Amino acid sequence: MGNIIVIGSASIDLVVKTDILPNAGETVMGNTFFTNPGGKGANQAVAAARLSDNVYMIGAVGDDDNGKAIIDNLNKNNVDTTFMDTIENEKSGTAHITLYDNDNRIIVVPAANNQVTPDKVLPKLEHFAKGDIIVLQHEIPEETIKAVVDYATNNDMRVILNPAPYRKIAQEIIDKVTWLTPNEIESDLLFEGRVEQALESYPRKLIITQGAKGALFYSESQQLIPGYEKKVVDTTGAGDTFNGALAVALNENKSLEEAVKFANLAGSFSVTGLGAQGAMPYSIDLESYKGDLL
Ligand code: RIB
Repeated sequence: MGNIIVIGSASIDLVVKTDILPNAGETVMGNTFFTNPGGKGANQAVAAARLSDNVYMIGAVGDDDNGKAIIDNLNKNNVDTTFMDTIENEKSGTAHITLYDNDNRIIVVPAANNQVTPDKVLPKLEHFAKGDIIVLQHEIPEETIKAVVDYATNNDMRVILNPAPYRKIAQEIIDKVTWLTPNEIESDLLFEGRVEQALESYPRKLIITQGAKGALFYSESQQLIPGYEKKVVDTTGAGDTFNGALAVALNENKSLEEAVKFANLAGSFSVTGLGAQGAMPYSIDLESYKGDLL
């Protein structure tokens, strides 16, 4: 089995739960506040490492207490942090999250995550090999995504690009990645509303996540791999869980159909508890579904 290398953001989430959303200039009273580890990169690494060994994270934290907490949490969750950098005189990334009406609104302050630059990342990739799976998202600089995708292409490594949060992607990147996993909103923006055409243009590459409905891709015809309905407590990190689990299944050489089904199942667990990583499943949690998986 190869390695899974998640290259991305690692942050601390500062979360407020509220029944009222303030308008501009208004103050309202919220219900609860909590902090927990987050960042799309770290979430995806933890999701993968709860389901598999050989998961590495390449990223950066600041030299503050949050940075220590982020690294401790990755270590506790079976993620290899050998290639995490601590940046002097820098703060760790934070995400400011409002939970309202069963959904989340997030503002990310990248801080140290902006230091995940090509000069720091590319030398670390020399420790990995052909066939390994790299997982990328959009909370680190765009130039890093491009450099890593080029490196992976030249070294026969496979890439999952989860284009979250949305930003424009160069056609060259779309062509070079192995799998592209936007959600419905991101795919609509990326393909300017021509989502059906895009699915057909990128068969078995473009996988569009649709929350509890499941995930769509094209293979001779449009395939909807249905999701699993679960009681929603907090949707934060559901997409990250999908991507981490997808990497695990693809690394185990499962077919795309099987891999997406497995990722849907893992994603469904993640919404059942508070926090991005709070309810991400461990392998044992998925045992009883074995017969149902393809
Ligand atoms: O995808 C959820 C994550 O997005 C949160 O954990 C937060 O850190 C933001 O980056």
